[in-house]
Amino acid sequence: MAQNARTLADGNEIPLLGLGVWQIPDGRECVDAVRWALELGYRHIDTAQAYGNERSVGEGLRESGVPRDEVFVTTKFYPAQKDPAAEAERSLERLGLGHVDLYIVHWPQGGPTWAWPGMERARELGHARSIGISNFGAAQVDELLSAASVPPVVNQVQLSPYEYRRALLDHCEGHGIALEAYSPLGTGRHLSSGTVAEIAARLGRTPAQVLIRWCIERGIPAIPKSTHRERIAENAQLFDFSLTAADLAELDALDRTGGTDVAVERPWWRG
Ligand code: A2P
Repeated sequence: MAQNARTLADGNEIPLLGLGVWQIPDGRECVDAVRWALELGYRHIDTAQAYGNERSVGEGLRESGVPRDEVFVTTKFYPAQKDPAAEAERSLERLGLGHVDLYIVHWPQGGPTWAWPGMERARELGHARSIGISNFGAAQVDELLSAASVPPVVNQVQLSPYEYRRALLDHCEGHGIALEAYSPLGTGRHLSSGTVAEIAARLGRTPAQVLIRWCIERGIPAIPKSTHRERIAENAQLFDFSLTAADLAELDALDRTGGTDVAVERPWWRG
């Protein structure tokens, strides 16, 4: 797994490819997606309290027969709640696990710092091996870093060639925080990109593989979502090809964020 994983600042390893389960309803569809992914070689599943499908993630993990200690499991604190440590315990109960590998503040609702002592407590209690954040821009990262005893090791944001967020990437990397890419396919929208299709055709690959590989080339963990077995398989065929410097430059030029250090264009939690 070593070349397909990245070592975080706290020494823990995160596999570069994960299955994201946002928008998959709790139940058979989610259980199957998780089980298929694990059968197909994924070793990283990303869920959240807000997704309402942690039970199915745990069930898919058990049905797969893959040993718990071979799988990296992420869940996220839903910041409309008050106590990250208590909510972590509830997550573990739903997942049927003794710990998660990564526990993330889902978004900086109510400000970037208030939840962090509870996240640190969740880690101290052994509920999570690593702790991190999601949807935090550079200014919010700075505020959190000046208040934290244990710094976050991951910031999960929407990242793709179209949302490159170069300044945020550089800022996080400069502080030992790994950026992680959610919706690396732009929730499917970027699959119809002409530029991506051209590069894919040239390489004999699919647009999804090119988009996910763009993250992998930079050591950025990515969590594409699919409920289709053949797509879950397709999205994992990433480690037997690479993008050239010219391909990367062409993809980088698709950025529509102006290289921003902001994580979210329209913060949904502010109403
Ligand atoms: P589905 O779940 O029906 O397979 P993102 O990871 O950026 O959020 O994108 C997820 C969206 O992209 C979902 O709608 C998913 O559909 C679709 N998708 C995921 N992988 C592929 C693929 N390899 N080919 C086509 N569509 C895909």
